[in-house]
Amino acid sequence: MDPLFSDTFPIVLAPMAGYTDAPFRMLCAKYGASGAYTELISASAVIRKNKQTLGMLQSRGEKYQLGAQLFGSKTEEIANAAAMVGGMCSRGACDAKFIDLNFGCPARKVVLAGAGSAILATPKKCGEIIEACVKKAGMPITAKIRLGYKSRNYLEVAKTIESAGASAICVHARTKDEGFGAKADWDAIAEVKNSVNIPVIGNGGISGPEDVLRMKARTGCDAAMVGRAALGNPFFFSRAKAALFGKEIPDATVEQKKKLFLDYLSLAEKCGCLDFGYAKAHAFEFARGFKGAAAERGKISRCKTLDEIRKYFS
Ligand SMILES: Cc1cc2nc3c(=O)[nH]c(=O)nc-3n(C[C@H](O)[C@H](O)[C@H](O)COP(=O)(O)O)c2cc1C
Repeated sequence: MDPLFSDTFPIVLAPMAGYTDAPFRMLCAKYGASGAYTELISASAVIRKNKQTLGMLQSRGEKYQLGAQLFGSKTEEIANAAAMVGGMCSRGACDAKFIDLNFGCPARKVVLAGAGSAILATPKKCGEIIEACVKKAGMPITAKIRLGYKSRNYLEVAKTIESAGASAICVHARTKDEGFGAKADWDAIAEVKNSVNIPVIGNGGISGPEDVLRMKARTGCDAAMVGRAALGNPFFFSRAKAALFGKEIPDATVEQKKKLFLDYLSLAEKCGCLDFGYAKAHAFEFARGFKGAAAERGKISRCKTLDEIRKYFS
């Protein structure tokens, strides 16, 4: 699905606030993710040149297909932020190869500000935002949608997004109100695939490696996006890629997971973004499935420094 991803059937890491920092993305790419996204980044904070926000966009030497995901509510502001990201990329100051627009976030604060999934209620606005970004950014623009804000209007939204010039569309197969728990409606992904000519990335409900193959067969999507199943488990991508070829690779052992987490810390150190908050969030995820999980979680939550977290996994 050029120009975004080059693999025959790409499997990409979903954007996840609080988790998809550069070192975690790097680890997932190392184990087979064809691409990854930043966490959602506020367009208005980009415009204000907020230091922390620009840090999220800063080049860390990521060579794979990286999407910088922006969210906002004002067309002009989002387009200006996209232009700034485009400028950073052309100067080599940001590694993103495309800009993704968040039309799916259900968080109250985001929705009340008229951003994220709230924009789905007005398909015309989705189109205006894409069109403005395509004009200003000088790089491919994609969108990540849910099936709807209140009503399921995903076909109208998808067609509008395509007409506005988007290079691909990612469909998280749940409405805003369905949150993260409802069964993902893969038939809706198939409907979008049959209605547009741009690549469709399917998302939602992939919990095991074999689900990637099932989603591909059921929906005809061009790529699959994996979120929660990859948390604490970058090796998921190796297993999912193998499953595409009918091969089964066992899950990472506890020892392998400990080593993977230490690799995360090393990568974070190397790329200058070692952060206690992110490291602790990842630590909980990597420790999932350890024997006596509740007690182990307690031990992690009592860690006060990065060294204590490192020691726990050593
Ligand atoms: C902790 C967390 C943070 C998320 N943050 C974002 C985000 O920043 N941008 C976005 O588009 N989606 C975000 N999502 C949604 C995921 O990208 C994905 O659409 C959703 O988790 C469904 O995929 P899954 O079933 O494979 O997890 C987030 C999800 C989780 C669980």
